[in-house]
Amino acid sequence: MTSGCRGWALAAAVLGVMTHSPSAAQYYEDVMEPAQLGLTELRPARTPSSAYVGNDVCRQCHEAAYQKWLGTAHARTSVQLRTQIAHAIAKAETANVADPSRSAKCLGCHGVAVDVPAAWRGPGFRIAEGVTCERCHGPGGDHVAAREDSTRGINGTLEGPSETICRTCHQPKPSHERLGRKPFDYAGSYAKVAHPKTAEKAEDELEPAALGIWYVDSVIAPPASYVGSAACAHCHQAAYDRWRQSAHAGAFYGLRTETAYSMDLAGGPTIGGPARNGVCLSCHATGHDVAAAARQPGFRLRDGVGCEKCHGPGSGHLQAMQEHRNVPGHGLTQAADDGTCQACHRPQRTHQKLEAPAFDYPVAWEKIAH
Ligand code: HEC
Ligand code: HEC
Ligand code: HEC
Ligand code: HEC
Ligand code: HEC
Ligand code: HEC
Ligand code: HEC
Ligand code: HEC
Repeated sequence: MTSGCRGWALAAAVLGVMTHSPSAAQYYEDVMEPAQLGLTELRPARTPSSAYVGNDVCRQCHEAAYQKWLGTAHARTSVQLRTQIAHAIAKAETANVADPSRSAKCLGCHGVAVDVPAAWRGPGFRIAEGVTCERCHGPGGDHVAAREDSTRGINGTLEGPSETICRTCHQPKPSHERLGRKPFDYAGSYAKVAHPKTAEKAEDELEPAALGIWYVDSVIAPPASYVGSAACAHCHQAAYDRWRQSAHAGAFYGLRTETAYSMDLAGGPTIGGPARNGVCLSCHATGHDVAAAARQPGFRLRDGVGCEKCHGPGSGHLQAMQEHRNVPGHGLTQAADDGTCQACHRPQRTHQKLEAPAFDYPVAWEKIAH
């Protein structure tokens, strides 16, 4: 709740700058409390994890995804509630719905955030926008605040939703049978709504300079390309599962915590916070300082201290093992031992407040052994 409010206050400030702030009177229904909206079938209001900012705000940084969304049926689910067929459906569903566009039940799948207190809806937010970005990804106030203001310790990561979320709405409904639609087929439907993952691209396929990372002394030319930890899983599933559960897999996200923001940033403050500080990334990430060409498509900067941070970039090993070639050292580019650990696990002034016990290899290895 607290972080939501903070995120919201900031998102509101951001909105004021970025969009032509609509007057409250113009969009009266978006600034009204659920109880004042004149809705039927309304359940008690819920408190969201963060504030709803509206699609126009997401658009500021995810233009391609927005354009794609605009062309989908999801952008028109709300207006569909005013059609003749909607009234027929409403009658089949519940006898007492005179106006489907005023039914909280219909709007639960055809609209967004009708059931949250008005304070959690931003100035640019529109209930009538239908199945918006935030309907699938969750409310974005914290996400926007964290991306906009580097001093905030908010981990505003939004989920990339799975099939489950589609099926919360795309489920068989007797009232909808008259539409004669085919049963929901995830693969085919997803292809229709899939949008470019701009953000991910930016992170993993850009040159260090274009990534907005500060304090990268020089771009490294690695002895092989980084393939990403997931590529190792094909042949080392047990090692991968072990790593996924370790702190190393979350080391990048650790840089988005309040604690990280409260530390002295080596080199000075950076736009984008610790996750954009090359000094922090040198121990909390893999391959942030190599040319984009040395990162293969499955690579994820956000995977933190990945397999290849300790074992070296793996394209050569991967290729050799796929081709069953017997090459020296299996084509691996780096030998991992206790020295590897000590390069990162050493006393640091900035980390004193964590009060982590002194590094003890046998004990530490036991925790991550694979
Ligand atoms: C100020 C720019 C900005 C705005 C506004 C913004 N995003 Fe993002 N978003 C980013 C960046 C940058 C990333 C890339 C990952 C990172 O660095 O956190 C990202 C990543 C994401 C991701 C991938 C998961 C993650 O959190 O890393 C999703 C999903 C997402 N954004 C959805 C949204 C939605 C929905 C909205 C509107 C509520 C929105 N974004 C608004 C900048 C923004
Ligand atoms: C559980 C989620 C859910 C609820 C609740 C819901 N709908 Fe739907 N509605 C859908 C989905 C999903 C579709 C897309 C077609 C399909 O897959 O059945 C749809 C399609 C429609 C369409 C067809 C739009 C077009 O393309 O012509 C209308 C009209 C409609 N719904 C009206 C209503 C009305 C009226 C209510 C309230 C009585 C309602 N819906 C409640 C999920 C829902
Ligand atoms: C109907 C649900 C739905 C809507 C609406 C929707 N998305 Fe998505 N989005 C998804 C799914 C599903 C994925 C793929 C997740 C995956 O591959 O793991 C995704 C992926 C993304 C990603 C990449 C996430 C990652 O982890 O790399 C971003 C960024 C994103 N969406 C932004 C947006 C924005 C901005 C909007 C609004 C303009 C939007 N989405 C609307 C369902 C939706
Ligand atoms: C909040 C409820 C909701 C969620 C979540 C949702 N949808 Fe929908 N979707 C709808 C409604 C309502 C319609 C009907 C729009 C219309 O026809 O007017 C629809 C329509 C569609 C359509 C167009 C109808 C058609 O058959 O051509 C596709 C495709 C679709 N959704 C795919 C998805 C996918 C894929 C996901 C998950 C990533 C998803 N939807 C998540 C409510 C939802
Ligand atoms: C195509 C299958 C395959 C993939 C993908 C793969 N490996 Fe291997 N790896 C092997 C095989 C086979 C060996 C030989 C030793 C054995 O049988 O365990 C091996 C051995 C190793 C060893 C031990 C070397 C030694 O000297 O004993 C390490 C470390 C290793 N791999 C790391 C990785 C990493 C990191 C990745 C991802 C970048 C990866 N592997 C991807 C097949 C694969
Ligand atoms: C020399 C390597 C190194 C550098 C540089 C580094 N870290 Fe760390 N960091 C670690 C290690 C190792 C840990 C694990 C705890 C420990 O042993 O101290 C850690 C732990 C943390 C944690 C605690 C994570 C948790 O979930 O408890 C935070 C937060 C953090 N670092 C932030 C930062 C920030 C911010 C920077 C940049 C100013 C930074 N680190 C730079 C190696 C480093
Ligand atoms: C934090 C550093 C680190 C990370 C991250 C890491 N490893 Fe290792 N790995 C080691 C060390 C050190 C050894 C050698 C342990 C020994 O022989 O005592 C090792 C050993 C191995 C071995 C050889 C095991 C054997 O039986 O000889 C394989 C295979 C391996 N790692 C694969 C992986 C894969 C796959 C990942 C990612 C999912 C990964 N490692 C992530 C440090 C790491
Ligand atoms: C590239 C830098 C780096 C290397 C190399 C590295 N670590 Fe870490 N390690 C970290 C960071 C950063 C964290 C903290 C991640 C977080 O919590 O956000 C961490 C956390 C841990 C933790 C969890 C904290 C705890 O004390 O419970 C263990 C255990 C650990 N590392 C063991 C090892 C071992 C063993 C090795 C060598 C085989 C190793 N690490 C090599 C950076 C590194």
